[in-house]
Amino acid sequence: EKQGYDHFMLKEINEQPESLKWLLKDRLQNGKLDLSESGLESNWLSNYDKIHVVACGTAYHSGYLAKYLLEDMLKLPVEVEVASEYRYRNPLVNENTLMIVVSQSGETADTLAALRLAKAKGAEVLAFVNCRDSSIAREADMVLYLNAGPEIAVASTKAYTNMVAAFYMLAVDGMSQRADIEEELVKKFTDDLIRLPELSRQMINQSEAKIKNIAESYAEQKHIFFIGRNTDYTLALEGALKLKEISYIHAEAYPAGELKHGTLALVEDGVPVVALGSRTDIFNKLFSNLKEVKARGADTFLITMEGQNYEKESVDHILELPQLNQYFAGLLAIIPLQLLAYYTALICDKDIDQPRNLAKSVTVE
Ligand code: M6R
Repeated sequence: EKQGYDHFMLKEINEQPESLKWLLKDRLQNGKLDLSESGLESNWLSNYDKIHVVACGTAYHSGYLAKYLLEDMLKLPVEVEVASEYRYRNPLVNENTLMIVVSQSGETADTLAALRLAKAKGAEVLAFVNCRDSSIAREADMVLYLNAGPEIAVASTKAYTNMVAAFYMLAVDGMSQRADIEEELVKKFTDDLIRLPELSRQMINQSEAKIKNIAESYAEQKHIFFIGRNTDYTLALEGALKLKEISYIHAEAYPAGELKHGTLALVEDGVPVVALGSRTDIFNKLFSNLKEVKARGADTFLITMEGQNYEKESVDHILELPQLNQYFAGLLAIIPLQLLAYYTALICDKDIDQPRNLAKSVTVE
């Protein structure tokens, strides 16, 4: 039931603080992470020499974010690929590979086929799955249930945030096994995990009015661009997918530094550009790309961390994220993008929960 919301999608966006709690519950004991219930050994990091993350659509975007995160925090090579590509090539996967498949439904045909392929080549498969007793959950060697609760809207929201948060948990758990990492740092990241439900609530509350306003002008547009660097680029991909999926407006995401290799030619007066700037380490690089599009007349919307310094005159709309470490801040930055897709589609009067041509679970390839 929609419990008073007009659409399941809006209900599910608003459930994120709760669903994050469900994910963290039982995986945190006395302020420490414990992922053993999924089947992971306590020293799993040393068992593998690389990680493959394979999924489709929004689940793939969570894996793409994880590539940046896991390589940085675990110092293991991570490859991420959409399942429909992975399954039809000869991936270099073997018994030293940790294969992570990610799926809300647990029934996506291509993801299931990729799982079987990796397993046949000797890899151990860890699945991040929301639906219990699904095919992927049954066939994987280890399962970390996302515990987001039923997701009805075709556009995935709360399952995505829990996928991302599950990768955060995995990264922190892996980090705690590294001899060169101080316990203090692990504790700091764990404390930040615990804050996610509350911060996500804050994010929903502080973005809704502003996003409704921006959506009014976006609903009139033909093309909208999303840019970012590092984990922010993967959020740009997810923001663009969400917008096109339910509003049918053409939206594209680019690594910010790629603009001048072609796409900048499309930026003219009034074209909206959403710049994701939650990474503090490379904010200045992102901001110089924002200035480039502004100089060509773009309508710029910046999402960045509270306290960040920048020239206000280049920015038409701004939304600030509550202070959080830059690895985890992406989870907060995605919330306004979900709301942006929702309110734009609402103004465009589209069938938000059941967009044309799409199904919730893609069980055929
Ligand atoms: O059930 P899955 O997570 O395997 O589904 C994968 C994609 O089909 C799914 O994320 C799709 O991209 C969503 N509709 C996006 O909102």
